[in-house]
Amino acid sequence: MKEVNITELERMFQEKIDQDIKIEPKDWMPDDYRETLIRQISQHAHSEIVGMLPEGNWITRAPNLRRKAVLLAKVQDEAGHGLYLYSAAETLGADREDTIDDLHSGKAKYSSIFNYPTLTWADMGAIGWLVDGAAIMNQVPICRCSYGPYARAMVRVCKEESFHQRQGFEIMMTLAKGSPEQKAMAQDALNRFWWPALMMFGPSDGESKHTAQSMKWKIKRSTNDELRQQFVDVTVPQAEMIGLTLPDADLSFNEATGHYEYGEINWAEFWEVVKGNGPCNKDRIDTRRKAKEEGQWVREAATAFAQKRAARKSA
Ligand code: 3HC
Repeated sequence: MKEVNITELERMFQEKIDQDIKIEPKDWMPDDYRETLIRQISQHAHSEIVGMLPEGNWITRAPNLRRKAVLLAKVQDEAGHGLYLYSAAETLGADREDTIDDLHSGKAKYSSIFNYPTLTWADMGAIGWLVDGAAIMNQVPICRCSYGPYARAMVRVCKEESFHQRQGFEIMMTLAKGSPEQKAMAQDALNRFWWPALMMFGPSDGESKHTAQSMKWKIKRSTNDELRQQFVDVTVPQAEMIGLTLPDADLSFNEATGHYEYGEINWAEFWEVVKGNGPCNKDRIDTRRKAKEEGQWVREAATAFAQKRAARKSA
């Protein structure tokens, strides 16, 4: 077979990307492309799994059976998204155990938003409306990502996220139209989750170390600031519709650009939370470590059963 040098391989690879030809697991790809996908997909999966914790906190305290059933369904969906994404990372050669150990050791990141506490039932509404709303804004473009398995996983995930966002907004709408105490609870949740939701899109484009290359490889189809702006433009009218006020005195609509202009994000807070110093970082990781320890017997039993069945088959 004709020797093809790396430069030629990279040229041919970028040509496929530029022609929107999907890259599949068995295709040649630059090591850096593989590494950044493993980084992003595994951290995306960690976000889904850790994201179950703040909401799981309210399943037993939902105000009625309908709300409990909807929240239970949503949290179960997040587990499925996480497992889907861990599988997508495995198609790139990531080892599942190592990936999960990286989360537990603090080596891997997950979305900063999940390090904030959920103090009232209204937080379930704010998370569904804002966090899943932001996740949809960020995940829809990934359905057109250059890496096949990631793009295909996102198609299914985004369908479920739409239900998550709708049920969250319905909780907020119900509370906002309820008693003065209920409206105040919804406003308090919005006040606490608005800015951390904007931080979900990552640092500003000028500070993002991955965006330029991820755009070239079509892992990202829009930049962090572009998606953040889209989210603000869609969400501000929704808050106004239900009579809630966004906690940003600098928020204003620019008729000339057709976009909302918003205040300065507290990047010092963002990086502190990303570094592990948020209100709930330690609690979240301790809970995930404990879940792994307590689930060890299940994995051992499943392995023993599989080995016994394999032995019977080969006998
Ligand atoms: N929380 C924690 N870390 C963050 C972050 C956040 N909100 N935003 C950025 N970072 C980290 C990045 O991981 C990167 O660190 P690393 O090199 O150690 O991985 C660093 O900050 C620089 O940021 P960049 O913008 O340069 O990094 P990316 O190009 O990876 O962009 C991203 C960050 C936009 C989050 C991108 O990784 C992405 O789109 N990921 C896929 C979507 C995702 O993970 N969403 C998280 C929420 S999932 C969710 O909400 C589930 C829903 O069902 C509730």
